[in-house]
Amino acid sequence: MTVNGVPVVAIDGPTGSGKGAISRSLAVSLDWHLLDSGALYRSVALKVNREGLALSEPAALAAAASRTRVEFSAAAEPEAILLHGDNVTALLRTEECGAMASRIAAIPEVRKALWKRQRAFARPPGLVADGRDMGTVVFPEAELKVYLTASPEERARRRHKQLIQKGIDVSLPDLSEDIARRDERDANRVVAPLKPAEDARVLDSTGLTPEEVVARIRVWLRESGLLSN
Ligand code: C5P
Repeated sequence: MTVNGVPVVAIDGPTGSGKGAISRSLAVSLDWHLLDSGALYRSVALKVNREGLALSEPAALAAAASRTRVEFSAAAEPEAILLHGDNVTALLRTEECGAMASRIAAIPEVRKALWKRQRAFARPPGLVADGRDMGTVVFPEAELKVYLTASPEERARRRHKQLIQKGIDVSLPDLSEDIARRDERDANRVVAPLKPAEDARVLDSTGLTPEEVVARIRVWLRESGLLSN
């Protein structure tokens, strides 16, 4: 089933599974829109932090989530993320921001406030939606659902390499611990826990190159009738 007539591919998975890079590369190759839902949660986390809001006040957090104005500017390379017009791309990628995002993402009122906004990303000709609950909650009717994963060691190594390339200094053991904590919180929260949708295709990318992963997903797209060549 399409989402309001628009084909949607949901790509979910844990931190460091490579779904960010895979989703982007797939969206570019298909010429479809991209929803980086993690960036939305990170933007809300940054706003909550800047406004000094307490995590114990769900209504205030949900109101902040509704007020958060995020723009994805494709004009910059790599793509810039603007929070109320301010380029916050580098700030959003820090581990502190990711950990804070994971905390506020466990609050049902915040998730509810972001649900409709995420659905609005489904526009022609198609959408690649990257997150934790794209196939289970936000786009349950998506035609193709992929659950991308990799071994914890490989995920920590990939994330470490990414951060070092961005000039962010972090130790591999600290990162492994942080990833394990985040996995635990994301998988065990009451609302929209991280888990494959029943009809998701699970893809373990350990030992696969990004090109091999994208090629595998393109085969599934063809099988689902979403891609003709
Ligand atoms: O994917 P990314 O690491 O940018 O996401 C940051 C955090 O936001 C995740 O650890 C997760 O807790 C939360 N998140 C979520 N649901 C999504 C996307 C992200 O709960 N759809």
